[in-house]
Amino acid sequence: MRVSSLLLACVLIPGSAWGQHPRPVLGSAAPPAQVALTPPMGWNSWNFFARRVTDQDIRNAADQLVSTGMKDAGYVYVNIDDTWEGERDAGGELHPNAKFPDMKALADYVHSKGLKLGIYSSPGPRTCAGYAASLGHEVQDAQLYASWGIDYLKYDLCSYREAVMAAEAPADKAAEMRLMIAAYDKMDKALKAAGRPIVYSLCQYGWDAVWEWGPKVGANLWRTTGDIKPNWQSIYSILNQQAGLARYAGPGHWNDPDMLEVGNGNLTLAENRTHFSMWAMLAAPLLAGNDLPNMTPEIRAILTNRDVIAIDQDRLGRQATRAYSDGEVDVWTRHLSGRAMAIAVVNAGPDRFSTHPFHLNLDSLGLKGPQKGKNLWTGDEVTLSNGMPVEIASHDVLLVRIPSPR
Ligand code: GAL
Repeated sequence: MRVSSLLLACVLIPGSAWGQHPRPVLGSAAPPAQVALTPPMGWNSWNFFARRVTDQDIRNAADQLVSTGMKDAGYVYVNIDDTWEGERDAGGELHPNAKFPDMKALADYVHSKGLKLGIYSSPGPRTCAGYAASLGHEVQDAQLYASWGIDYLKYDLCSYREAVMAAEAPADKAAEMRLMIAAYDKMDKALKAAGRPIVYSLCQYGWDAVWEWGPKVGANLWRTTGDIKPNWQSIYSILNQQAGLARYAGPGHWNDPDMLEVGNGNLTLAENRTHFSMWAMLAAPLLAGNDLPNMTPEIRAILTNRDVIAIDQDRLGRQATRAYSDGEVDVWTRHLSGRAMAIAVVNAGPDRFSTHPFHLNLDSLGLKGPQKGKNLWTGDEVTLSNGMPVEIASHDVLLVRIPSPR
C-alpha cells in the first residue's frame, strides 16, 4: 500500500460517486408571511413525468413522501408542473384539464398529509407545453390558486417572450428587460393581493441577470440556467454556472440551479451523490424529480441524508463559493451557522487517477493546521491537513463538515 493510501484511509470515498424597481404594493395591511426562509424542499412532477402527470401521480407522490421518510427529512412541497391546465370559461376562469378533475380536492388531500401543493403557469398566453397560461388573467389566476389552497407557484417565461416581448418590439435591451420584469412583478402583486402565502418561483432560465432583480419582484427563487438533464455533463455544467452567484442568495430568496435529477437517467451513485451534495452546498431548492414509488434504497439514502440536508438548510443561507480548481478537481466551501464550514471536493475527471495525486490545499481556504470534521457520506470522523493527498472516484465527492474551523 502506498504511504499516501495509508494517510488517506480516513477520507477515501466509497462506491467507486434595474433600474430601480419599486417594491410591490401589498393588497392587504398585513405584512406578507415569510416563506422560503431556507431553500424550499419537495418534489416536482416534470423531471420524471413531464407531460404525462395526473392527479393520481400527485397523490402517489404525496403518499410516497410520507412513507419513504422524505417528508420527515424536510420535503414538503408537492409541485405540479406544466400540463395540468384546461381552458377558460366565459368568465375567464381557468379550469384544470381532464387529468386533474378537482384541484381543490387534490390540495385538500396533499394538505391532509401535512404537505403543501405547488402549481405552474406562465406570464405568456401559453405555457411551454402549449397549455393555457396567465397573460391578462394574473389577478384572476392568483385568486383561483389561493381558493384551491396552492402554496407554491412556478412561473415560466415561455410564450411571453414571443407574444409580448417580441411583439412590443422594445427599442433596446433596457426596454426589453423592463417588459420581462413587469411580467414577474405583475404576478407578484397578484399573489400578494390574493392573501395566501405562496412561494414564488421564477423560471426564465437565468436571463437578464435575474438574480439582481428577482428579489425586487418578490421572487423566493429564480432559475439561473436552462433545463437540467439527468446526465453528468448537464449537472456539472450547471454547477459551474453557479460560481459567482453566492452573494445573491439568502433567506427568502435563492438561486435555483433547477430541480434535482437524483435517481433519474443513467446517473451513477457517485454522480447522484455529487449532484445532491453540490445542490446542498449551493443552498439550492431541493426539489426531487424522481419516480418515488420505484425509488431504490440507495437513492432514498442519498435524498434523505440528514447531514447533507442540514448543509442545504443552514439558517445563515450562505451559498458555497468555488474556492479553487486543480486540474479536474474543484474545491467549494460554504460558511455555516455557529462558525462551522463545509468543504466539498469534486473529482470531475473521467477516472480516479485523472488528477492524482490531488493534494488538498487548506492554506488557500484560509485554514491553518489540521481540521477535524465529519465525512457526511461515510459518517466517519476525519482530520484534514494541508497538502494531504485525497483520492476521490470519478464524478464523486468528498463532503466534510468542520464544526470549528481554525
Ligand atoms: C421549461 C422549464 C421546465 C418545465 C417545462 C414545462 O421551460 O424550464 O422546468 O417546467 O418548461 O413545460
